[in-house]
Amino acid sequence: MFKSIEMAPADPILGLSEAFKADTNADKINLGVGVYKDEAGATPVLKCIKSAEAKLVDTETTKGYLPIDGNPAYGQAVRELLFGSNSEIVASARAATSHTPGGTGALRVAGEFIKNVLGVKSIWLSDPSWANHAAVFGAVGLEVKKYPYFDKASNGLDFQGMIEGLKSVGKGEVVLLHGCCHNPTGVDPTVEQWEKIASVVAERGGLPLVDFAYQGFGVGLEEDAAGLRAVAAKNKELLVCSSFSKNFGLYNERVGAFTVVAEDAEAVKKAQSQVKTLIRRIYSNPPAHGGAAVATVLADDALTKQWHDELAEMRERIAKMRQLFVDELNQRGVKLSDAGNQFIVDQCGMFSFSGLTKEQVDVLKKEHSIYIVGSGRINVAGISEKNVGKLCDAIAVVAGA
Ligand code: LMR
Repeated sequence: MFKSIEMAPADPILGLSEAFKADTNADKINLGVGVYKDEAGATPVLKCIKSAEAKLVDTETTKGYLPIDGNPAYGQAVRELLFGSNSEIVASARAATSHTPGGTGALRVAGEFIKNVLGVKSIWLSDPSWANHAAVFGAVGLEVKKYPYFDKASNGLDFQGMIEGLKSVGKGEVVLLHGCCHNPTGVDPTVEQWEKIASVVAERGGLPLVDFAYQGFGVGLEEDAAGLRAVAAKNKELLVCSSFSKNFGLYNERVGAFTVVAEDAEAVKKAQSQVKTLIRRIYSNPPAHGGAAVATVLADDALTKQWHDELAEMRERIAKMRQLFVDELNQRGVKLSDAGNQFIVDQCGMFSFSGLTKEQVDVLKKEHSIYIVGSGRINVAGISEKNVGKLCDAIAVVAGA
């Protein structure tokens, strides 16, 4: 039976990491997968996590199973990060959180909940969206629809198009919104635009699902939650998928969360009982370590402060690399849009939708050992003072500058 199995295509993002590893060129550059890198190209464990892990080694007494939805202290910490510790949602206990294996695990649980508990048949994604979104939701049998998002002419948000698209959302259909640092474009709505988006989804009777994987990588932890909070203010029911891969650097610990917000505490209790049934059938209960490290940091004021500082350092380095990248492109006379390269500085978070075509990306990989996602998405954190010259020389060649 197995002999007839066809080779599956490589994953458009993680497949690049495999190809990068196999490349023997000493000057290779990986701008593919969304992983933070420091100036030396390393992805170090955050110091606050190292301290939390040392604490855990001393205090952990068991490796017994966690509850199906994880450690309650972790869930509480997640909700406070999302909505604020003094928020009405937290105070009225109308949200419930499950610790999931990463943000992707959260999205899968969300998909199962949407399809099998709510009986909803379709989900709207931004055009474009993270490459894995359509795959995850398609795998649970949801029909994927798209609303306009990116304006190629300005390299910015197609806000009018987005609003018009959202006006086609049917009652009960799910609308996925990127909480901040839109993946892949790096283009986010303003707070005023979020208000309008939140109103239109509410008027249409849609159910918002906020994918929140980069909190703290845009402007700051609180500022980056403004969109989510605007959506929550206008929509009594919503879903949130969180990831702590990037902002805690816990990529391989798979630390994510699925949060259901309902109209009241009674309704959320019932919803959460269904979420637990789904989780039990998929992975039974979550892996403990990463969530315990996050909860330990967030329960300790000094470690929380250290986390904020480390997060700011990552965010600021990325912003610096955006500017450096643009300066170096400008020096070589390379224009990645008719209006120049300023849009790269204006985008936020880890990614830049560079405007490089699939063909240019292929040549960069084959001839220069530079790895970029086929859509032209660049992980700006992969740029350093050391590699920016080589990167921009190669882009000048493929862009014909
Ligand atoms: C990315 O978009 O590169 C990250 O979210 C990693 C992944 O799993 O794709």
